This record gives sequence, C-alpha cells and structure tokens, in this order.
Amino acid sequence: MSTRLTDLPLEPIETASRDELRALQLERLKWSLRHAYDNSPVYRRKFDEAGVHPDQVQTLADLARFPFTTKQDLRDNYPFGMFAVPQDRVARVHASSGTTGKPTVVGYTLKDIDTWATVMARSIRAAGARRCDKVHVSYGYGLFTGGLGAHYGVEKAGLTAIPFGGGQTERQVQLIMDFKPEIIMVTPSYMLAIADEFERQGIDPATTSLRVGIFGAEPWTPEMRLAIEKRMNISAVDIYGLSEVMGPGVANECAETKDGPTIWEDHFYPEIIDPDTGEVLPDGEFGELVFTSLTKEAMPVVRYRTRDLTRLLPGTARAAFRRMEKVTGRTDDMMIVRGVNVFPSQIEELILKRPELAPHYQCVLTREGPMDLLTVRVECAHGGEPATAQAAREALARDIKAYIGVSAGIEVLPTGGIERSVGKARRIVDQRPSR
Ligand code: DLL
Repeated sequence: MSTRLTDLPLEPIETASRDELRALQLERLKWSLRHAYDNSPVYRRKFDEAGVHPDQVQTLADLARFPFTTKQDLRDNYPFGMFAVPQDRVARVHASSGTTGKPTVVGYTLKDIDTWATVMARSIRAAGARRCDKVHVSYGYGLFTGGLGAHYGVEKAGLTAIPFGGGQTERQVQLIMDFKPEIIMVTPSYMLAIADEFERQGIDPATTSLRVGIFGAEPWTPEMRLAIEKRMNISAVDIYGLSEVMGPGVANECAETKDGPTIWEDHFYPEIIDPDTGEVLPDGEFGELVFTSLTKEAMPVVRYRTRDLTRLLPGTARAAFRRMEKVTGRTDDMMIVRGVNVFPSQIEELILKRPELAPHYQCVLTREGPMDLLTVRVECAHGGEPATAQAAREALARDIKAYIGVSAGIEVLPTGGIERSVGKARRIVDQRPSR
C-alpha cells in the first residue's frame, strides 16, 4: 500500500479488517433499524406496510427487504416529522434548499454532531492534512451543511479553522494571502472563481501557501481536478456527502490514491440499486447510490435514495472500506435531448480539452416546436476574446456531436459572462415551457 500523506493518527477502525468492519456494521444495522422502528412513526408505518421487522435481520443482505426512503418522505413530513428523538435532544437542524418547493430539513443530537465531526476529521486526514495545518473553509455557513460540517471536522482533527464561508471573493484572496492556510475546503466551481480573482489581482494562484483542496458538494470531472491542481499547484481530493445522510464527510478520497471517495462504512451503509427496478446490484455495477445510517440518532435514514449515480469499488488506501466512483451525474441532472441522455459533466470534460475555453459553463434547454434544444454557454479562457475562440467553438460542437451524440449550439461569452455561484454552480438552465 502507498505511504500515507497525513502525519495525524488514524482511528483504530480505519485499519480494521473487512470482517471486523462487517461485524460492526451488522450490529449497528440491527440497532439502527430497531431505533427507527421504535422511535419514528414514519418508519414504523413504512416497515409495517412492507411487512418487515427489524428482528428479521440476520445478515447485512437482509437490509434489501426494507423499503426505500426518498426526498418525498422528507417533504411529506416537513419540517420535523422524520425525527426519532424528542425535541429536547435535537441539538441542531440543517436544511437544503433544493431546486423546487420546501427545503428538506435534517436534525442532529449532540452525539450525531460528534459522529459527523469524527467522519469529517477522518476525511480531512485522508485528504493529506498534516499537524499545524490551517484550513480555510469557503463552504457556506448556515443551513447548508458544508460550512459547519467542515468546521467541526477541522477542529476535531486538531487543526486551525478559518471560518470564512462563501462570497466576498476579493477578501477570500486577501485572507488566503495573509493567513497562509495550507488547506482550502470549497466547491470546485467556487475555487475557480477564487482562482480568477487571484489573477485579477495580479497574483499567480499557483504561488499561494495552499497545498491541499477538499472539493465537493457538486459533480466535478477528473479533467476539472487536473485543471484545478495545475492552476492552484495543489493536490485536489473529492469529498462527498448529502444532508439527508449527514452532510459532507459521508465519503472522502484518500490523497495517496485519489481513486474515488472512500465511504465511511462504519456509519453509512451503501448499496447500489437499479434506479428503475429498485433491485440491489452487485459491487462494481453502475446504478443509484442508497445509504442507511448505522449510528444516527436524531434522524435515522433507512435505504435513502440519493439519486446519485455511481458504483461501489473495493477498498485501497483504507483496505476495509469500499470506495465509490466519483459521482459525475445525478438522475436529477440528466438532460434528455432528442432521446439522448446527457449529463453536464460530459460537456465539462469536453470543454476542458480546449485551452481557449474556461470551465465556467451552463447548459441551457429550450424548446422549438416539439424539439428540445441544448445550448452550451461557456466562457472564453481568462484574458481571451470570444471572437478569437471561434475555432474552439466549432471544435466543441463537433466533440459534443461525436462523443455524446447530440447537436448543441455553443455560445462563447467573455470572462464573467456566466453567473458565478459562491456555492454549488447551476449547470442546467431549463427554459422549456412546462408541457
Ligand atoms: O452538498 C454536502 C456537502 C457539502 C458535500 C460540502 C461535500 C462538501 P446537499 O446540499 O444535501 O449536501 O447536496 C447533496 O450534492 O446528493 C450530490 O448530488 C451532490 N454532491 C455532494 N458531494 C458531491 C461530490 C452537500 N463530491 C448532493 N461529487 C449529493 C458529486 C456531490 N456530487
């Protein structure tokens, strides 16, 4: 196995055997299902309706008999109806805004917050944190889980948190220059906006104190990783998570292998299912990721359908823990353009092949008669002119046709032409009238 990049001590479970981990998972799974059944009226009803009972669980595979939980379940029980502890044990709530309707609300006991900090600390170590590192946190603080989740993990890892949050890009640059953090935690798209701001101020972003970037909360391609690593002169690792399951730190890539996020399976049990039939697929097969919480008190989740598409892979840097392939698509983000499935990440990959273009982009969907049209709006490279990017525009259209199989219009915009988000980038702009 490759040498670890962190000099911070690991938890004993991180070096346990697969058998030890599985035994712990089974014990915790029984507890979690029992806790959900006994203390959440929603789960009691769901289990009763499906004719299943926590006492029937003898092996981890028995989980497949239990019903799924979806975002709709959380919406139907808005705001606090999924909680399985009395209000006086709920220490904190978070919420994710989503694209439509009411936010989904999640809750934590003090013990849950400690568990979360523990897996976040693990994630930060896995990313290659070293003693005395300072961590600049640019994930948003507030109802979004990114900022506070990262923050508690930094403190738990024994490092210094710089709780900047999102926005005020000019000041982000100033503080990175003055405080000299070694690690930055931010969405990959906002990292690019910060890199642009460095350049605008005449500072080469490759010359900062930063050594490691922990990027997530949105899909980003391997090509984007290489582009950010080169531009910032850092090592970029992927952090995955979702509010319903905990927040950031459900899985994190290990710096020594960078081969997809390692899932912290002692707290979050993963399955991959066929998104159409719900059937559980064997490891290695591609499908929708589903999680069951094994230790969460305030809001246990049983077979939560993430809508993220990926596959499970064997452990490497943390041998007992399975990995997930980098998530580059969600079922929600799949555009169907004249019968062809298209994900924004496929477009991103092709944009990054063209040095005349910058990876600030949006996919705009419109309708002309019965036809759905896709227009890719993309900025020209920093300092470039849209007029001189004509060749890149044609090449991108050709690539999209050749590799993805759809015709797309391309609009090249000047620097700043695509709205900057300080958190998750909005990649799809759907302007089609609803049918
Ligand atoms: O985005 C939690 C988070 C914060 C993760 C900071 C990482 C860093 P939600 O707002 O609930 O929570 O959104 C969760 O974001 O289901 C994925 O679709 C997407 N997502 C999160 N991390 C990644 C990633 C946070 N590394 C949803 N790669 C998830 C691809 C990701 N997609």
